[in-house]
Amino acid sequence: MPIPIGIICSGASESSATVVLYDGMEKEVKNESLVLIKNKNGGSVLAVCRGGLGINESLRTGTFTPGVAYAKSRRIPSSVKEYFLFKLQVIGEINDNGISQNRIIIAPTSTVEIFTDEDSPMQYLGKSELSIGHYWGKPNWKVPVLKEYINYHIGVFGVTGSGKSYLTRYEIIPLLRRAGYDVIVMDWKGSDYAPYFESTITLDQIKVDNQTVVKYFGTITRNFGYYDREENPVAAAVETALRQVDWRGKDPAVSRELILQKARQIIMGSPGVKEDTKTLQLNRLESSFETITEEEFERFIGVIEPWEIVAKVKDRGIVIIDMSKGIKEQKLAVFTAITKYLKKLMERKQTLNIALVIDEGPQYAPWQPRGMERDTTDMIIDLCALGRSYGLSIVILSQGMAGEIGLNAAVRRNLNTQFIGRIHPLDVEEAQKLSASYYISPETLLTLPEGHFYFLGRMNPSPIPLLISFQIQ
Ligand SMILES: Nc1ncnc2c1ncn2[C@@H]1O[C@H](COP(=O)(O)OP(=O)(O)OP(=O)(O)O)[C@@H](O)[C@H]1O
Ligand SMILES: [Mg+2]
Repeated sequence: MPIPIGIICSGASESSATVVLYDGMEKEVKNESLVLIKNKNGGSVLAVCRGGLGINESLRTGTFTPGVAYAKSRRIPSSVKEYFLFKLQVIGEINDNGISQNRIIIAPTSTVEIFTDEDSPMQYLGKSELSIGHYWGKPNWKVPVLKEYINYHIGVFGVTGSGKSYLTRYEIIPLLRRAGYDVIVMDWKGSDYAPYFESTITLDQIKVDNQTVVKYFGTITRNFGYYDREENPVAAAVETALRQVDWRGKDPAVSRELILQKARQIIMGSPGVKEDTKTLQLNRLESSFETITEEEFERFIGVIEPWEIVAKVKDRGIVIIDMSKGIKEQKLAVFTAITKYLKKLMERKQTLNIALVIDEGPQYAPWQPRGMERDTTDMIIDLCALGRSYGLSIVILSQGMAGEIGLNAAVRRNLNTQFIGRIHPLDVEEAQKLSASYYISPETLLTLPEGHFYFLGRMNPSPIPLLISFQIQ
């Protein structure tokens, strides 16, 4: 049974109020405590305590009061005129089906009660069979989630060490599985997921399509010596060579030689091109192949095709792509190869029921994408749009929210559910937007302990963010 803690003060509205606490209750009520307001104007209102205040009339500052004089002379001023307040942010009015927006002004003098461990206020948020973690400080209050918004995509934000990967591994992935999604995890570091799951595939095992391989070669050779938007006959020749020659699954030195020879042939045989232009093109080809070494070919001799990965995830329920061994562009190339296939399936109107977990999101979709990042950023945006119709859920983890340390803004706009853990000081401006709307102070966000996240957005049945945590074994 909830226990009374105080009464509503003057100045309450339908969406927020202030409670003056009964004597001693200041030791029980905490920031983020959940309370019930018995509105004297009718109905019961679920609310959360955010922003407490201790006031002592004899210790007002700004003028010289007797209390200040007492304190100056090391005596304790009277606490008779001392009281404690908490601001309350309204979640909603409780009705038979859960909660709805509260439209009745909360009457001053209404009583406020706090929920105890034995109560289950989460039931008011709806009867969802799915939940994530638990409400802050209450391990048995499972926080319900709305399954129908999973494919409106999810963002997990927090500085390094805030617990993003743990939240994903312990809570988000199991939730996705329970909701009927099969999960592909892009494990950038190879240490957060790969060691904990059975079916993993490493980068070099995956077959990357020829077009993406040429993109990759272009990145490492400064576009084979051409300007970005210029017509690029050398890239075209290499791409044709990759398509015409059976180069995969061979010794990388042999593969490289085969492609180089074929590309030479193609350039020399191209009709209507002047001899000196051909020489220039050949020179650019040769010098590019000084950078495209045997090791570079070795990265792409994998034979597991994207469709096989999708078949495997459908069979096993989860597949981890271990990206630890490989350079950034190679990781982006593999990502492109896999997502191209997912996109193609959706364009053919196939429903996927797959979730794609992207750890270290800004590596794929930074604030200002360059080189291959531009393709991966555009791809993620496309996947988000298609995913809403064809059952693909994108889950992106990022250390920063906005600006230089953050995720690309166009991508972020697509993440309709967010988990926000301890933020980076550079994200304070972003945090202020939250504090303006929800009374969550930027200081709170800057100091959240590891494994604590504000849960907000479409999947949250509560219209205001809830602080959640989770237990690890
Ligand atoms: N719910 C939790 N309870 C207790 N400890 C936790 C919890 N969640 C995370 N931790 C601790 O926090 C540490 C960092 O977590 P994690 O690796 O998930 O951080 P991260 O946000 O993914 O960091 P990075 O951005 O560097 O990848 C973990 O090693 C673990 O010890
Ligand atoms: Mg991590």
